Amino acid sequence: MSKKKLIHFQENLTFPHLFQPSYTALQEYFNLRSEWHDEFFRNKNPIVVELGCGKGEYTVGLAAKYPEKNFIGIDLKGARLWRGCKSVEEQKLKNAAFIRTRVDHLEKLFGYDEIDEIWITFPDPQPGKARKRLTSPFFFDKYRKILKNDGIIHLKTDNQNFFFYSLEMIRQEKHNLLFSTEDLYHSGLHEDATSIQTYYEKIWLEEEKKICYMRFTLNFMPPLQSPSPSS
Ligand SMILES: C[S@@+](CC[C@H](N)C(=O)[O-])C[C@H]1O[C@@H](n2cnc3c(N)ncnc32)[C@H](O)[C@@H]1O
Repeated sequence: MSKKKLIHFQENLTFPHLFQPSYTALQEYFNLRSEWHDEFFRNKNPIVVELGCGKGEYTVGLAAKYPEKNFIGIDLKGARLWRGCKSVEEQKLKNAAFIRTRVDHLEKLFGYDEIDEIWITFPDPQPGKARKRLTSPFFFDKYRKILKNDGIIHLKTDNQNFFFYSLEMIRQEKHNLLFSTEDLYHSGLHEDATSIQTYYEKIWLEEEKKICYMRFTLNFMPPLQSPSPSS
């Protein structure tokens, strides 16, 4: 490990807005689960979560823009999270936090209805592992357990296959697609989806790749059960 990374990991331990629960700790519910408003943010403002946030451009950018909301970025990689944590410190933001963990633990981190909105920013497309894709039915089930019924999920990706896979999963599960474009920067949209660019997004844009974007809400109706043989 490089010396710089080691220094960043040491500094990560000092940020009050970075949580790094151990795998063992997440066998149980995280101690802030259902308590983020009262015990951490100390307000009742909506909570927005960014999944696979990397350096946290959305978490930090939106927190600065919307002081009346709270933001939490989640990623596995401590070195990337350091950047987001540092920006929160430098900008003296009180409405942003980060969690270093796998997004697979969402239900351990947040309670029912605790989350108002989700941003999924340039997730790994996981070509060989459908279940690991952040728009698979497996993950939709997790989002249902933490997101309010009208909570919007935003997805930005450079990967067209992943984009079309996501559209198909939304169609199959009867979620509500609100907007989608295969070419965000020629879609006429001017809002948070275009005003903030992530580290990876800038790389793809330099390579002249198109950025895909969609937003949708979840179908909260439980799937119909098959009738039992006796009914
Ligand atoms: C392509 S990068 C995008 C990072 C950032 N959103 C951006 O656009 O610059 C994907 C990110 O997802 C994170 N990631 C991948 N699988 C994850 C998982 N299971 N849980 C949490 N983070 C994950 C990686 O560490 C990485 O930072």
